[in-house]
Amino acid sequence: MAVQLVHPREAPDPRAFRLLPAGGKYPPSDKPLFLAGYSELCRVDLNGQHALEICGGGGELAARLAQVFPQAAVTGLDFRVPAGPETEAWRKQSPNLSYVAGSAFDLNFLPASSVELVWGQAALHHLAHDPGTLCQQVGRVLKPGGRLVFIFEPLGHNLLVAAIRAMRMARAEMPDESNLFVSQIEGMSADFSKCEVQVFNFLGYPMKAFSDRFAPLNRAVQTLDGLLFQKLPRLLRYGANCNLIFTK
Ligand SMILES: C[S@@+](CC[C@H](N)C(=O)[O-])C[C@H]1O[C@@H](n2cnc3c(N)ncnc32)[C@H](O)[C@@H]1O
Repeated sequence: MAVQLVHPREAPDPRAFRLLPAGGKYPPSDKPLFLAGYSELCRVDLNGQHALEICGGGGELAARLAQVFPQAAVTGLDFRVPAGPETEAWRKQSPNLSYVAGSAFDLNFLPASSVELVWGQAALHHLAHDPGTLCQQVGRVLKPGGRLVFIFEPLGHNLLVAAIRAMRMARAEMPDESNLFVSQIEGMSADFSKCEVQVFNFLGYPMKAFSDRFAPLNRAVQTLDGLLFQKLPRLLRYGANCNLIFTK
């Protein structure tokens, strides 16, 4: 199935702004990417549905999604259940929020076709060494029409991303990480009916060091990237960062 590479141009879903603090530790220049990704989490009314975050880390994004959709059952999964006063406060505020310890490669604790949304933030590049198992596990639990969304992933066709990450991998700084390639995403998409990849940061990536500190520069670079991606769609695969939306 063909993978569609796009640079999103529509205004973010207003609810996406309520999720934005959960991307707060990432570069400020990536805000448009996070707003586009978070809009995808809000695209379908999740109230009455089950949503599962994989590789959820400290669990803030799951907590915020549970607040946005108070009638949804939201589960955050990572190797460890997050703990601490902040986690307790989120749980108290949202009885519809739960955390489980486990692996994204083993979702057998969930019934088949029971989940409307599975998502991960900065997650797929930790799982990309075994996309087959991942897609099989997620495909089993997703309802027909349900979606698998990944937010903030690196694209390995971008030479600067590839070089920087290769250097860090060689220094063993990223033991479980891989780069993503369109061919690999195409392989994953075979298990789904639709796959869209939202691409960001062509010039935005080398400019990050400056534009993270100076918002007007970031806006100018983002606008320029938007124009470049529109006029030269072949550049899309060379963007540095992406969100992926697979529909079952
Ligand atoms: C870069 S962190 C992202 C955490 C969080 N999503 C965020 O954006 O702050 C990657 C997370 O993936 C988790 N992880 C890696 N492999 C996993 C697996 N197979 N199953 C569950 N979690 C995994 C790690 O424990 C870590 O918390």
